[in-house]
Amino acid sequence: VAVYPPSVNKIFLSARHVGKADAANAAGKAATFVCGSFVRFSIGIDGGQKRITSVKIQTNGCGFMIAAAEVIAEAIEGLFLSDLQGLNDEQLNQLITQHLGLFQPDRDHCQQVCFEAIRGAFFDYRVLQLEEFQGEKALICTCFGVAEETIEQLIDKNSALSVERVGELCNAGSGCGSCRMLIQELIDQHDYSAHRTGKP
Ligand code: FES
Repeated sequence: VAVYPPSVNKIFLSARHVGKADAANAAGKAATFVCGSFVRFSIGIDGGQKRITSVKIQTNGCGFMIAAAEVIAEAIEGLFLSDLQGLNDEQLNQLITQHLGLFQPDRDHCQQVCFEAIRGAFFDYRVLQLEEFQGEKALICTCFGVAEETIEQLIDKNSALSVERVGELCNAGSGCGSCRMLIQELIDQHDYSAHRTGKP
């Protein structure tokens, strides 16, 4: 029988976000080869308010995995997309450490798989938003409604050459973080063409 640290045990035994989200409209699943376990987050988002109204988890993992997923679900439920601040590893690690203590290296996969799954759920929601989007200009950030053109201008004219800088100037990428890879691609494209033409 596995023995868990008290902080993990407490949350694992009282997990209340198990199941499928109310009015779920997106989901993300990730698995780890280390132990073969998976986590699935389903999320319900009120599109009008851009608010995460429900977050639920399903997993066949151990107490560490259940507790990590539960902490994430509890922290995110009720937030606005704009509150997520990019959902980066540092923030998520901090959240877990704050509630469950530092995970040992051999338990790192239990939290990493949760990080991947929750990001997957928001990515899924972004794809859904893009499918419904009716505007003329290509949309990059659905959390803040920022078009590709706007970001390109910031990169070209304001020398916003990092995802963070783009976020500071127009918020793009500082919500759920799903568009950060695309913003990075736009920056890379700029770097590539600047390199070819010799222009900064
Ligand atoms: S799509 Fe969520 S931060 Fe850009």
